[in-house]
Amino acid sequence: MAHDSPATRVTPPAADESLLPMPKNILSARVRKKLEQAAVKVMKNAYAPYSNFHVGAAILLTNGMVFSGCNVENASYGMTNCAERTAIFSAVAQLGPKIEIQAVAVANDHGVACSPCGACRQVIYEFGPDATIFFQSASGPKEAHITKLLPEGFRLQ
Ligand code: THU
Repeated sequence: MAHDSPATRVTPPAADESLLPMPKNILSARVRKKLEQAAVKVMKNAYAPYSNFHVGAAILLTNGMVFSGCNVENASYGMTNCAERTAIFSAVAQLGPKIEIQAVAVANDHGVACSPCGACRQVIYEFGPDATIFFQSASGPKEAHITKLLPEGFRLQ
């Protein structure tokens, strides 16, 4: 019996789509939409009784798999886990330490600006130093490279 995994997979592009020249880190609108939909879907699972701010995140790995996660708060506020880290840790738990993040999408139920927090940027960078992040900015939907959000991210040599 197939293992019941929380991940989905982005199918290869249709023939006509694959004919389009596509730079390595530019994702098709189709893949971006799928990632954003996964982020919205998982948002309803958030445990956020303290902030009442429900967040969903979905990550696309370079192997085509998509993992999602929500924020999980705690009465000891600092123990809160953001949606982005939940998704990343879930992928590592399922696949092991060699995951490579290609893109991250973040959604929130207030429709307000919400970019990954500093801690999550560092965790995204660990597994996705070339990742593209899709999030809601003050001026609407935005796409940014992780190194734009986290200049000089830390790496252990
Ligand atoms: N939060 C996330 O899950 N991701 C973000 O990108 C920003 C903030 C969560 C943490 C906390 O549960 C709530 O949003 C309010 O800060």
